Amino acid sequence: MCGIVAVIGSREAAPLLLDGLRKLEYRGYDSAGIATIESLEKVKKGSLTSRKAKGKLTNLSSLVDEEGSSGHIGIGHTRWATHGKPDEINAHPHMDQEGKVAVVQNGIIENYRLLKEELEAQGIKFASETDTEVIPHLISRELKELKSKGFDSNGLTLLTAVQNISTLLKGSYALAVIWVETPDSLVVASKEAPLVIGLGESEFLCASDTPALAGFARTILPMEDREVALLTPLGIELYNSEGIRQQRTPSLLTGVEHVVEKKHFRHFMLKEIYEQPEMADLWIARHFPKGFAEKAQVALPFDDSFYEPIEQIQIVACGSSRHAGMIGAYLLEQFAGIPTAVFYASEFRYAPSPLTPNTLVIGVTQSGETADTLAALTMEVNRREGQKDTAYQPRLLAITNRVDSSIARKVQHILDIGAGLEVGVAATKTFLAELLAFYGLTIAFASHKKSKTDIEIKNFIHEIQSVPHYLREVVQKHDQISEVLAHQFSGTKDVIYLGRGINYPIALEGALKLKETSYIHAEGYPAGEMKHGPIALLDPHVQVISIANPGIVFEKVLSNSQEAKARDAKLIGIAPESAELEIFDKILPIPEVSELISPLLTVIPMQLLSYHIAANRGLDVDQPRNLAKSVTVE
Ligand code: AGP
Repeated sequence: MCGIVAVIGSREAAPLLLDGLRKLEYRGYDSAGIATIESLEKVKKGSLTSRKAKGKLTNLSSLVDEEGSSGHIGIGHTRWATHGKPDEINAHPHMDQEGKVAVVQNGIIENYRLLKEELEAQGIKFASETDTEVIPHLISRELKELKSKGFDSNGLTLLTAVQNISTLLKGSYALAVIWVETPDSLVVASKEAPLVIGLGESEFLCASDTPALAGFARTILPMEDREVALLTPLGIELYNSEGIRQQRTPSLLTGVEHVVEKKHFRHFMLKEIYEQPEMADLWIARHFPKGFAEKAQVALPFDDSFYEPIEQIQIVACGSSRHAGMIGAYLLEQFAGIPTAVFYASEFRYAPSPLTPNTLVIGVTQSGETADTLAALTMEVNRREGQKDTAYQPRLLAITNRVDSSIARKVQHILDIGAGLEVGVAATKTFLAELLAFYGLTIAFASHKKSKTDIEIKNFIHEIQSVPHYLREVVQKHDQISEVLAHQFSGTKDVIYLGRGINYPIALEGALKLKETSYIHAEGYPAGEMKHGPIALLDPHVQVISIANPGIVFEKVLSNSQEAKARDAKLIGIAPESAELEIFDKILPIPEVSELISPLLTVIPMQLLSYHIAANRGLDVDQPRNLAKSVTVE
C-alpha cells in the first residue's frame, strides 16, 4: 500500500506534496512524511529537509506549518505499515547515513534482510526497521562508486545509480529519490507497483494514483513495469529495464473526481450507503436502455465473440470484492448455467487450478490496484500465453470502479461498475455496484447461451429494475433501526452471521464490515455448517445474525437458526416482516423479493448495523485502524 508523491518545478514543493498526499491518504494513514531540497542558487549548497509525523496527514501538515520545508523539489509518503511499527522512526522518507539521499517507497523489498546484513557488514548504521531503508543506503554507495569512476553530480548519475541498484532489489516497488547534490533532478522507478507522472506547466508531479494529480496536471504518463524516469524542470527522460530511452505520448487525465464532500452526513461511509439507490438507478438506466429489457437483453460493452467461446469462468478477488464474486458465481452457475469457481487472489497466484480451455478469468477489484489480484491475473496471462492451443489463450475481464487503473491496463475487457469515488475504507456502494455488474453479466451470458428463456430473463430484469425502489425504503428504515439497535452491541465481543445459498456471501460480508469498522470479532458461516463445529462457540453472550429470505433454503436457515437459539445465543433475523418468525429476538425487516435478487437488499442492514455500532463506539469509521483503501502489497 502506501501512497507516494514527488514533485519538481517552479513552485514550493511542500504544499503540492501535502495536497497530493491528502488525496492518497486512502492508501494508508499510519504515518506521513516529506523531504524537500532547497536549490543551490539560494543557499550555494543543496540543503535537504525532512519532516515526518506519526498518524494521519494532519499531524504532518501541522509540523510543516510550524517548522517549514522549503524547496522546489520534494518527495512525500503516506504509510501503511508493513515492516516496522507505525511510528515516526519508520515513517518515510528514509535517508542514507549522510542525509544526502532521500527515498519514498510503496511496495515490499523481499530480500531486504540480506541487503541489510551486507550493508551493515560494510559499516552502515540503520535508523529504522523498514525494508525501504536499504534503498537510500544502496543508492548512496552506488553514487560514491560512480563518482569514483568520474561521473559528475548530475541527474543522469542519479538515474544510473537507481538503475544499477534496482537489479539488486527483489519484490515490487514504486519509488522516488532525491539527492542533495542534484536539486534539479528527481528520479522515479516502478516495478509491479503503480506510478503515474503528471505533466504540469514547467513542473512534474509523480504519484501512486491519478487522484493526486487532479488540479495539477491535464496530461499523464502512466509508468510501465520496470521503467525508470528522470524528471527535471526541462522534461522527462523515460527508460525501460534495458536502459533504452522510451518515447510515449502522454494521455489525458480523465474521470478523476476532484472534490468529494461529506454533505450533511457524519461520515463518508453513511453517505456512501445512502448513495446506493441512486447508483442502482443509474446502473439500470445505463444497462437497460429503451427496448433492452423488453428484448431480454442487457447493454454491456462486449460483442458476441466475447461470450461465445466461454465454457467456464474463474473469478479472482480479495475481501469484499471476493464476496461479490461469490454471489456472481452463484448467479452465473444457477441462472446462466456456466461452471464458475471463485478464488482468493492471494492463493490462486501460488496454487492455480489446472488450465482449462475457453475460460474467462475475471478479476474483481474496486480500486483496480490490489496487488494480489493483479499478480493472480499476471500469472494467469503468463501461463496461458505459453500454450499452443488457442482454446487456452488468456481471456481476461476486469470488474472495477477505476477504468484508469493498473488492472484496466492488464486485461482485454473492462466492466466499469460506475460507483463514483468511494472514500470510506469499508466498501459499501462499490460492493453493491460489483454485484450489479454480475447481475448484468449473468443476464448477458444467459441470453447468449440460451440457458434461460426470454420470458425468464425478462422477469429477472424486471425484478432487478425494482431494486432501487426497495433500496430507498431499506436504507431509510435500517438507518433508524440500526442506530437504536447499535446500543445493544456496546459490550458485544463476538458476532456470528449465518446465511445459505446466495446469501452465504452476504453473511461473510456482514462479518467483514463489522470487523473492519468496529473491531468486534465476527465470522460468517453457511448456516448448515454451524453444527459441524462452530456451534461450540455459542453461549448467551454471542450474538447471531441470520439471513432468512424466502426461497429454496428458507426453512433450512430457520432450522439452523433454531439450533443456535437452543444454545441460548441472542438471535437477530434479517427476514421479511410478513414472515412473523417468533424464533428471532428481533427482526431486521426486508421486502419480500425473490431469492436471486435478495443479496442486493440483505446487505443493507449489514452495512448500516456495522456503521452505527462503530459510530456509537466513537471509532474512526471512514479510516479504521490498520486498513487502507487500496492494498498494493502482496
Ligand atoms: C472492504 O471493505 C475491504 N476494505 C477490503 O476487503 C477490500 O474489499 C479488498 O482489499 C479488495 O479491494 P479491491 O476491491 O480494491 O480489490
